[in-house]
Amino acid sequence: MGYDFTTRVNRKDKGALKWEQMYKLNPDVSEDVIPLSDADMEFKNPPEVIEGLREYLDEAVLGYTGPYESFLTAVVDWQKRRHQWEIEKEWIVPTQGILSAFYTAIRMFSKKGDGVINFRPVYYPFSMAIEDNERTEVNVPLLKNNDDYTIDFEAFEKAAADPNNKILLFCSPHNPVGRVWKKEELEKLAGIAVKHDLYVISDEIWYDFIMPGHQHTVLATVNEELTDKLITCTAASKSFNLAGMMASSIIISNKKIREQFNQELAVETGNMVGILGYKAYELAYTKSEAWLDELLKVIDTNQHLVHDYFKEYFPQIKAPLIEGTYVQWLDFNALGLDQEELESFLQKDAAFFTTSGYIFGEEGNGFERINLALPTDALEEALHRLGAALKKSKKLERLNR
Ligand SMILES: Cc1ncc(COP(=O)(O)O)c(C=O)c1O
Repeated sequence: MGYDFTTRVNRKDKGALKWEQMYKLNPDVSEDVIPLSDADMEFKNPPEVIEGLREYLDEAVLGYTGPYESFLTAVVDWQKRRHQWEIEKEWIVPTQGILSAFYTAIRMFSKKGDGVINFRPVYYPFSMAIEDNERTEVNVPLLKNNDDYTIDFEAFEKAAADPNNKILLFCSPHNPVGRVWKKEELEKLAGIAVKHDLYVISDEIWYDFIMPGHQHTVLATVNEELTDKLITCTAASKSFNLAGMMASSIIISNKKIREQFNQELAVETGNMVGILGYKAYELAYTKSEAWLDELLKVIDTNQHLVHDYFKEYFPQIKAPLIEGTYVQWLDFNALGLDQEELESFLQKDAAFFTTSGYIFGEEGNGFERINLALPTDALEEALHRLGAALKKSKKLERLNR
């Protein structure tokens, strides 16, 4: 079946965060510009989810609702079918999103001042969660070799061996650099974590977005010993554009830490996932797999479009292909602009609305993250807007020689 990944959605004045931000940054922006910032998608939701919710609303009673059998079965089956990961229903802890889960887990596994290891550049709320909880961020920057990023295992082992450091906060696949960690890398990482008794929070929210030729391995499957100190964050929210439903599944096999986590959540947030969140999630996992498979092809087309565009017209700007996620990490350092100039150029001159690289840590200075989940022709227009602005810019004249 051909799903609709070409219709443009207009989210202006509907509270969509990245759209609000775009109009704030540039109130004069033309109506047809779509922002490329925050990681939700500029596509309609899968029709099976929308139709299913409509039908459900005809009969549902919208009262207090907890996880129920068909929801839990859908989550278990998804892990098995898509990720070759066998889990039990009772391991699933639904939460109001993954952010709240790792905030809670950090509090649970450490005390104030303890070290939390982070591989920057990385999804910036990781650093926020460490700082907001008054823990110490122990940054082990990813190693960058040309366009390739890898884990600095030597530095990681050194940090892990420090008894003040209690947790590794891990992003897999990695936002923003688009790495899908290989099984051998995960085995090495798990071995170090076990050896030094670290807790690991593995945020695998992007695990359904794997580009052709790559394979995601769930960290929990590589080392049995690690699972006693591991929580794995999963969700249908990225995969099916359901972030506004505020639902996710945290998977914890160890009974003791699961109970502790549940208790901590209850104290802090009450942790009631909304009834429509459960239902949307269940519908997506049971009825919309074909939609996701088609979407992955669109993302792959889009990442090649971006990669090829810069390679052909502005080779100084690097747009490496991604292995996973639907965000691409663009290196604008060759333009020689400082952060303010770069942002102003992109937002005002090019109407090219990105997520600034520096917020992922100073390792992201001069980079911009773009979202690939939008209609291909809209992305093409954005690239042409940027290209035209680059050609016009006096400051960047040397680029066009
Ligand atoms: C790595 C990562 N974790 C978590 C989230 C957000 O999860 P949630 O909306 O469930 O809090 C995102 C969103 O972009 C993300 O990239």
